[in-house]
Amino acid sequence: MNILVTGGAGFIGGNFVQYMVDKYPQYDIYNLDLLTYAGDLTKHREIEQKVNYHFVKADIADREVINSLFEKEKFDYVVHFAAESHVDRSITNPGIFVQTNILGTQVLLEASKKIGVSKFVHVSTDEVYGELDFDPTTFFTEDTPIQPNSPYSASKASSDLLVRAYHETYGLPVNITRCSNNYGPYHFPEKLIPLTISRVLNKQKVPVYGDGKNIRDWLHVLDHCTAIDLVLHEGANGDVYNIGGHNERTNLEVVKTIISTLGKSEELIEFVADRLGHDKRYAIDPTKLEQLGWKPTYTFETGIAQTIQWYLDNKAWWEQIICGDYENYFEEQYSV
Ligand code: NAD
Ligand code: TYD
Repeated sequence: MNILVTGGAGFIGGNFVQYMVDKYPQYDIYNLDLLTYAGDLTKHREIEQKVNYHFVKADIADREVINSLFEKEKFDYVVHFAAESHVDRSITNPGIFVQTNILGTQVLLEASKKIGVSKFVHVSTDEVYGELDFDPTTFFTEDTPIQPNSPYSASKASSDLLVRAYHETYGLPVNITRCSNNYGPYHFPEKLIPLTISRVLNKQKVPVYGDGKNIRDWLHVLDHCTAIDLVLHEGANGDVYNIGGHNERTNLEVVKTIISTLGKSEELIEFVADRLGHDKRYAIDPTKLEQLGWKPTYTFETGIAQTIQWYLDNKAWWEQIICGDYENYFEEQYSV
């Protein structure tokens, strides 16, 4: 069984590749990644010698390269993570989001159709549903209309519609997963949780957008991996599955939890200008996936404690990331 994982040098794809290589020694796992600023292969040192792990450096939007790779390897399954993933970057530079997230997905769908893959899992996001208000009894379900607000979520929603169209028009066996915000090991330190941990550890101010009352629904990345594994093997063809563990927190609660766990002062918090078009609240109803047999293993409390400890134990990894190109980006973005 040949499985192509796109974006396997990134945060979630990287955790998924390691999970699959260990869990399924009988599968050949191909990690295809362009190694953009968000891609990093050092995380795979422990699996790179394994006979069932393979790496291919390529751009998912490069039709010729992708077509010839699919012809050569005859993938059985595709699990598609590769994307531009940061909302703030999509606000300042939306073009690359259209190129990678929409065009790149179409190139993969076409190649998958040509060789007749048995399953194409498209890893999407709850952000395609837009935003909820602060009523805690409302949730995104698989039937919630798609109403993306940022260039990032609009590009992901567009790719979701292409995946749906390849199923409806050509009968390609697909699933779309829409997960809430992830956190955990190897999270790139431009996103709220790893940014807060790394900045608190470096005694730097933590920028909180607006009043910090926006709500996100947090899921540990390993719980996301088990959900995708289940959908890959058991998901009904053509279906969408929402993924989330009912862990809603305001941004301020998240930042304060990290600061107090690390025994530091809340004086590190700096309220900064709000993000343009900042979605108020995300919250997932995961009933459909639970009915398929999925259950998360982490609460927010156990997951955040494990994650903070991981960042304490792996300072060398995130320090090599927050220098160079990223440092310039951060200074331009926040000037705090
Ligand atoms: P990430 O930014 O950490 O990783 C993205 C990876 O894709 C990187 O390794 C990058 O090098 C690669 N990539 C980018 N452009 C490419 C291209 N043109 N060709 C090949 N590879 C390319 O992202 P992530 O947070 O791991 O997210 C992975 C997927 O999960 C995305 O599709 C995202 O929309 C989705 N998702 C993320 C979250 C979250 O909280 N991070 C939640 C739900 C869904
Ligand atoms: P982020 O990690 O960028 O994920 P997303 O925008 O995909 O939800 O942001 C999570 C929340 O944290 C979001 O409401 C924006 C907010 N935020 C801050 O307040 N400060 C920051 O420095 C960042 C990166 C995000």
